[in-house]
Amino acid sequence: MQTSSTARRSGTSGACVTRKVGLTMKNLPLAKVYQLLEPGPVVLLTTARNGRANVMTMSWHMMVEFEPPLVACVVSTADYSFAALRATKECVIAVPAVDLAQKIVSIGNCSGRNVAKFEKFGLTPLPADCVKAPLIAECFANLECRVVNSRLVSKYNLFVLEVLKAWSDPRRRNPKTIHHHGYGKFVADGDTFRLKSRMR
Ligand SMILES: Cc1cc2nc3c(=O)[nH]c(=O)nc-3n(C[C@H](O)[C@H](O)[C@H](O)COP(=O)(O)O)c2cc1C
Repeated sequence: MQTSSTARRSGTSGACVTRKVGLTMKNLPLAKVYQLLEPGPVVLLTTARNGRANVMTMSWHMMVEFEPPLVACVVSTADYSFAALRATKECVIAVPAVDLAQKIVSIGNCSGRNVAKFEKFGLTPLPADCVKAPLIAECFANLECRVVNSRLVSKYNLFVLEVLKAWSDPRRRNPKTIHHHGYGKFVADGDTFRLKSRMR
């Protein structure tokens, strides 16, 4: 923590320069930046390869286009899901509500390499229409996706997905999604409110 009136700032060359800032600001380690911007909501990503379904937790994703909906997501090469997603080019993004929070975290802390996660976590796989990866019955929405761009996979593990078909559970009214703030800290969606906006 910097207590003086100076702080270090990255220059374009990567070198740091010193500049004056107010006393109330302190350096935030770059490793913590994602905790401010991690988009969420935390979702589950299912894949199926050679007849075996798997599921992982994912929160690094973002919308890229309205329609057809395009979603960019980062799936680490360390994840068992990575190879399945790259090979099959298909997945389902299942959107869980806060009632599944504990399972979401547990699913993201073990691997399909050695755990049959659907069985272990009591998730019900449902057949999808357009992809082999399963929907998850316990999630209030499910998005069947196909990889449409892999150009940034080798550099950033970033897949661009097109949502081919979307499902939602009409029985789930106002489900609260969860959002990750790093190291086991989460927030659930709060109150819904409306404001005039040009954005759809
Ligand atoms: C809250 C949370 C969010 C996560 N977000 C991502 C993510 O966006 N991308 C990623 O590659 N891994 C993410 N993970 C880690 C994977 O879910 C984890 O590595 C998982 O074990 C991979 O499962 P698999 O080996 O069966 O594919 C997250 C984990 C948690 C708990």
